[in-house]
Amino acid sequence: MSIKLENIAKSFRTPYKELKVLEGINLEVKDREMMAIFGRSGTGKSTLLSLMGGMDIPLSGKVIIDDVDLSSLKTDELARVRKEKIGYLFQAFNLFGNLKAIDNIILPVILDRDKGKKINKIMELAAEIGLKDRLGHLPGELSLGEQQRVAVLRGLINSPAIILADEPTAHLDNENSQKVMEIFRRFNKQQGAAIVLVTDHEQVAANFERCFNLEAH
Ligand SMILES: Nc1ncnc2c1ncn2[C@@H]1O[C@H](COP(=O)(O)OP(=O)(O)O)[C@@H](O)[C@H]1O
Ligand SMILES: [Mg+2]
Repeated sequence: MSIKLENIAKSFRTPYKELKVLEGINLEVKDREMMAIFGRSGTGKSTLLSLMGGMDIPLSGKVIIDDVDLSSLKTDELARVRKEKIGYLFQAFNLFGNLKAIDNIILPVILDRDKGKKINKIMELAAEIGLKDRLGHLPGELSLGEQQRVAVLRGLINSPAIILADEPTAHLDNENSQKVMEIFRRFNKQQGAAIVLVTDHEQVAANFERCFNLEAH
């Protein structure tokens, strides 16, 4: 699997002017690679990640996943690529407030025939990151750090070939942060998942083989 960004530009309309966020971005994430996207708040990290995950479309340029240009796909084809290949960890979690933690986590696989196996595996990870006793609660009853771990597990339940993680340890204490990073590393080493992780922490970025510094663009 691979992700290629070719000459990407993205801007947003504001009431006053056009806000240019990304321009001339060229970037490739190869099979089994772990890459950090680094930059201060507001440099466009989340915007870039959402383009990589097909959650938004660029103003110009191409996003190519496994040799398929995402702009050539119909809505349902794009949805299938996202479901089958990508695990997306949102910066703001995007959990359903009326579903218990466990139901948020298993939602992506609820219609899958082999969901039993996936659920067993994710329960092991839940125990590993200290969430097992909290799974029966609604997101609003959980701390931010617990909500973040719920969102991590939901993003991983499909064993995605590509993990796109937007500041996935921002609300975690040091110990849980290390545990989550260790789980990402395991997905990378054992299952060959490519991992793109957005961070504004130099120390976190330093753990990665490759780092794309948005501040230099
Ligand atoms: N939907 C949007 N509409 C208008 N401006 C946006 C939108 N999304 C992001 N922005 C702006 O684009 C810039 C980059 O945002 P973002 O990608 O979230 O940065 P980062 O993740 O690096 O903090 C910010 O100035 C933000 O206010
Ligand atoms: Mg962001």
